[in-house]
Formats: sequence, C-alpha cells, structure tokens
Amino acid sequence: MRNYTGPPVTGDDFFGRAKELKKMGDLLVKGMSIFIPGPRRIGKTSLAQEFMRQNDKAYRFIYFDLEGKQSLLEFCEDLLREMKSKQMIFKDIWDTLSGMFQSVEALIAEVRLKKLEFPLKDVMRMCEDILKRLTKENMVLVLDEFSDFLFHLSERREVELFLSWLRSLRHKNYIRMIVTGSVNIISTVEELNCMNYINDLPPVAIQPLTRDEVRDLITELLKEKNILLKGKAQSFVLDKLTDGIPFYLQLFADKIMDEHENMEITDLKEIKPFYLKLIEYDYPAFIDMHDRLNRYLEEKERKIAITLLSYISDKPLALKDLFPYIEESTTDIPFVHKILKRLVDECYLSLNKGIYSFVSPILREWWQHKYEYEREMNDNQ
Ligand SMILES: Nc1ncnc2c1ncn2[C@@H]1O[C@H](COP(=O)(O)OP(=O)(O)O)[C@@H](O)[C@H]1O
Ligand SMILES: [Mg+2]
Repeated sequence: MRNYTGPPVTGDDFFGRAKELKKMGDLLVKGMSIFIPGPRRIGKTSLAQEFMRQNDKAYRFIYFDLEGKQSLLEFCEDLLREMKSKQMIFKDIWDTLSGMFQSVEALIAEVRLKKLEFPLKDVMRMCEDILKRLTKENMVLVLDEFSDFLFHLSERREVELFLSWLRSLRHKNYIRMIVTGSVNIISTVEELNCMNYINDLPPVAIQPLTRDEVRDLITELLKEKNILLKGKAQSFVLDKLTDGIPFYLQLFADKIMDEHENMEITDLKEIKPFYLKLIEYDYPAFIDMHDRLNRYLEEKERKIAITLLSYISDKPLALKDLFPYIEESTTDIPFVHKILKRLVDECYLSLNKGIYSFVSPILREWWQHKYEYEREMNDNQ
C-alpha cells in the first residue's frame, strides 16, 4: 500500500470501508440514489471512486468533480462532454446519440454567435432527452463536492432549478446518482427551503477509522520503508490520530518516512521529533487549508473566525461559551453561527452535541503554533 497524501486513492491503496461500499451497492441495486455526506478529507472522493472501480462492469459511471464549477451552464456543458466521450461504450445507439449531440451543439453555437442570453432550460431539456435514451445503459452520475457547487450558484432560484431538475431525472428513473457533499449540506439546503428536492437521497455515512483501523493502516503505510512502530511510540501516534481521518494519518506517515527507513520506533523520544515537525507553524499541508479561510471569508468574518478557533483550541466549547470572547466584535448570533458552520465545512471544527472542537489533535496543535507565531509577528510590528 502506497502513501498518496492528498489525492483520492483506489484499488490497492484504498483501505477498509467495506460496510460503506456494501451499503452503496445495496442501495443502487434497489434502483436508489445515494448521498455521501462528510467533512473534507474524510475520504468521500476515494470511496466514490473505489465504488466505481469495483462496479464498473455493472454500471456506467459518469464522474464529475463540481468543486469550483460556477454555473448551471458549465454543468450542462460538462455533462454533454462527458456523455460524448463515452462513444465506445454507447456504440450501439451512437448514431441516434450523435444526432442529438449535434443539435445541442448547434444551439450553443448559435447562441454564442448572436450573443443571446443562454437558453439554459432548452439545454437542460436536451441533456435530459439524451439521458432518457441512455436509461437502459444503467448509468450512474457521480456528483462530487456537490455542496461546493451549490455554494457557488448565486441565486436561490438557480439552486432550486438545479435540485429540482436532478430530482426529476431520478424520479423518472433516467439515471441514478451518487452525490457527495459537506456535513452541512443538509442545513444549507434547508435554509434555502429546498429540502424536498434532496430528501429522497438516503445517506451513506463515512465513519472515522477506529483505533484498530488507524493502527492497521499506518502499519501498512510504513511498511513501504520497512518502518515498524511499537510500544509507547505506537500509542503516542494513535493518540494523535483519534479523529480517524485518513488524511492526518497519511501526513504523520509521510513525516516518519520522509528521511528514514529500515527502523523500529519504540520510544517516545524517538517519535516526538517527527510529531513536532508535523505541527510546525509553516507546515505546508495546513497552510493550504488555512489559505482557504483567507479566500472564503470577509475580513470581519476572518477575524472572528480566528478568535473562535483560538479559544476552541484551548478547550472544546459551546456557542454560548464563545460569546463573551467575541461580543466586542459582534453580538449578531446568526452571524457567528454562520462562521462556525463554515469552520465545520472547512473541516477545522467538528460539532458534537452542541460542542465545537478541533477535528484533529494534530490540526489543533498546529493551529496553536500558527496562532502564537502570528501574534508574535504582530507584536513585533
Ligand atoms: N479508504 C482510504 N484508504 C486510504 N487513504 C484514504 C482513504 N480515504 C481517503 N484517504 C486519503 O485521505 C485523503 C482525503 O481523501 P479524499 O477521498 O480526497 O477525501 P474527501 O473527498 O472527503 O475530501 C487523501 O489523501 C486520501 O489519499
Ligand atoms: Mg473530495
């Protein structure tokens, strides 16, 4: 098993998730669609792609990464492109299909030429006609990072049009779907009063890895460099990976394998230096993540987010406990709630029975270093 930190993994590099894969298979066989909610980096894309790999004889999958996609038009164009790229698979009905593709393309070209407003509904209808022809082909549309896309659609009307269209495609049985999204997608859709468009999707929850699974996976990964973790060193590592998120586990394994091979690590004093390097304030994997906050939050939101994170990094707290710390900046409860929700979506925090805590001990300690470092920098200015 190789350690690919960052990109999704499948096949020999994919670990566990037998229950989730089985549940997905059972639902699709019944003709249902599936929703895979979960925070960033828990392994949604890997799960969806591994399912596709294992079932590529039974279904024809069309996979889309919706992250960063900005509009429904872009979605339709991508869908058409993907369907068109499947010429070999659909060779028996290709003559009919290619005529249909040509009509849509002609429409798109004409609109572009005349610089008309795009007749989105016509394009959607034509996509639907094509999907209808493909119903017998057992197609499954995999929509990855669905919530990121909804976030980008500017108006509620557009979200509603998109969700209701997808729902009608499912209900007419033209196509089944596997949709992945952040944990907060349900509440986001609820806020838009659009729940009735997605409540037909049964969720397949991705569970964090158990302590035993964490031990097995890190043992497997370290074998690549013939490294064995034992005794107190192993317990130390497992204690830092209680979140059960494969990504943090990979980062730790990376750090250990970076400059070492062929060794047994047993003592705390041997393992701690690796850990300290992982939580250095300028560790690139976390800087990337942190930059998303800078990009996605407005200045005022960002300042409040940083204050919230710094108190939660001391100890887990409920919303009401957090208020005294930020009341000088804002007394607007829904506003603070929105920021906390975003921090959950960005996978900084998790929310359990009303209590916010950092998703992972590693991230929490990295954050404390980063925060201290920034404070010192500010003090020196
Ligand atoms: N089942 C798994 N086995 C091994 N590594 C995994 C597994 N699932 C996820 N990972 C690793 O975790 C990280 C995040 O996975 P990804 O599937 O992209 O998560 P998400 O789509 O939820 O953000 C990647 O580095 C990936 O290699
Ligand atoms: Mg993903």
